[in-house]
Amino acid sequence: MKYAVLGTGMVGHTLASRLHTLGHEVRMGARTADNEKATEWVKARGERAGQGTFAEVAAWAERVIVAVNGAQIVALAEALGNAAVAGKTVIDVTNPLDFSKGMPPILVPELSNTTSAGEALQAHLPEARVVKALNTMNHEVMVDPGRVPGDSDAFLCGDIDAAKAETREFLAELGWTAPIDMGPLSAARGLEGLMPFWLRMWGVVGSADFNYRIVRE
Ligand SMILES: NC(=O)c1ccc[n+]([C@@H]2O[C@H](COP(=O)([O-])OP(=O)(O)OC[C@H]3O[C@@H](n4cnc5c(N)ncnc54)[C@H](OP(=O)(O)O)[C@@H]3O)[C@@H](O)[C@H]2O)c1
Repeated sequence: MKYAVLGTGMVGHTLASRLHTLGHEVRMGARTADNEKATEWVKARGERAGQGTFAEVAAWAERVIVAVNGAQIVALAEALGNAAVAGKTVIDVTNPLDFSKGMPPILVPELSNTTSAGEALQAHLPEARVVKALNTMNHEVMVDPGRVPGDSDAFLCGDIDAAKAETREFLAELGWTAPIDMGPLSAARGLEGLMPFWLRMWGVVGSADFNYRIVRE
């Protein structure tokens, strides 16, 4: 499978590297085609790894992962453009966090409560098939559920069933075999809304190796 991973931060690196290790062709996307962090990553990974602008790698890919600064999701969508992602499953792992007022960050008001980064992405890229997933856990746990002892949960939501089926395949490859489907993309409001709680709990636990577990009858 050809994956574009949009984002050169910790999450982009972790997901791109895991997908590459699993045998996929992976290109890392950034605002510029010669982004240094992406160049280093490509050098380190060798064959089947590449880089380019957000639009270039997405146009090449079969599936697209969005792992950019979530507060900049509209700028990302504008740089990406609808044509590059038309008909493709776009898995959005972002959280729209504003760090400008210090720690802990807050959710960007224009991207929370009555909307979400996931919905903003879909609204700006109407032909993409956006699915929200994996934003509720640390990046190392995303690719290695066993870092957290016992069973814990991954979530997804989106408006297009076929895209959610592709996302479940992607999640299964990472080790998440029974993710909880939260329904339509508007459920991203709740998934992104978990982040203020997660950040406070991080302080309590003292490590990012923890996760949510839904207990039910
Ligand atoms: N860290 C975690 O464990 C974790 C866990 C769950 C979810 N998340 C979410 O995952 C996302 C990525 O997190 P991260 O810590 O890896 O990276 P980050 O520092 O939040 O974001 C880095 C990426 O954002 C891009 N970016 C910054 N400003 C931009 C703009 N104006 N327009 C377009 N792109 C822009 C950068 O592009 P350039 O490469 O061109 O500079 C870079 O690729 C965030 O939304 C975060 O909330 C993180």
